[in-house]
Amino acid sequence: MSKITIQTLRQMKQDGEKFTSLTVYDYSFASVLDKGGIEVLLVGDSLGMVIQGRDSTLPVSLRDMVYHVRAVKRGAARSLILADMPFGSSQMGPKPTLKNAAALMKAGAAAVKLEGGSVMVKTVRYLVRRGVPVCAHLGLLPQSVNQLGGYRVQGRSDDDASRIREDALRMQDAGAFAVLLEAVPAPLARHITQALDVPTIGIGAGPDCDAQVLVLHDVLGIYPGGSPKFSKNFLAGAGTVQAAVQAYAKAVRSGEFPAAEHSFS
Ligand code: KIV
Repeated sequence: MSKITIQTLRQMKQDGEKFTSLTVYDYSFASVLDKGGIEVLLVGDSLGMVIQGRDSTLPVSLRDMVYHVRAVKRGAARSLILADMPFGSSQMGPKPTLKNAAALMKAGAAAVKLEGGSVMVKTVRYLVRRGVPVCAHLGLLPQSVNQLGGYRVQGRSDDDASRIREDALRMQDAGAFAVLLEAVPAPLARHITQALDVPTIGIGAGPDCDAQVLVLHDVLGIYPGGSPKFSKNFLAGAGTVQAAVQAYAKAVRSGEFPAAEHSFS
């Protein structure tokens, strides 16, 4: 099977074929996910919570990310590795962000993800023009938890919804290869997905996104802090990690996951 690239993902959207993504932070799990056909391995800054036991993603450093990207790279033969830009690594303007993104790509990432809307447009354009594929993360921005006052669904008011919609279009225009939508009402995610040529990747954004992503530890039901409403334990009933990953991928591709109970209206 050929290597997954950002062009593969765009083609899958054009063909109406859903793709799958899971977070992963180490060699062994990366190998399981890669062999299980997961198209995008997200080395998420959620590692701050599920690996390091911190109470948010904010303490994660670029060095932490580089360490985990290197480990994941060794287990990934086919999947595309997408690395999160941790808090503080993308907020200081285009040039320092390019330097930090380059560190992640030298470690093995094929693309980076950064949080933020209109304020990040210039930075996204700068990175893309210099060879760094960027996924824009909109909706609930965990790195802004202190600004938001908690992990809340975003885009419920008309103003908020049109801001997120506008941001998605601006990110596409700036060259983002995908837009990740976290914790937004399903109808808003559907609208954005239909309006964009680039794929949307949803987490808590309903069934109509072009792809879904979940935190691996939620899929396996092993995070002591509990799991959000929009995730599902696929290990229960599956028996093995490999079977759980395959059940997740099958449910996403068939449109069975996420169901109404995992979505916001
Ligand atoms: O870090 C992460 O795991 C993420 C997901 C919540 C999409 O960004």
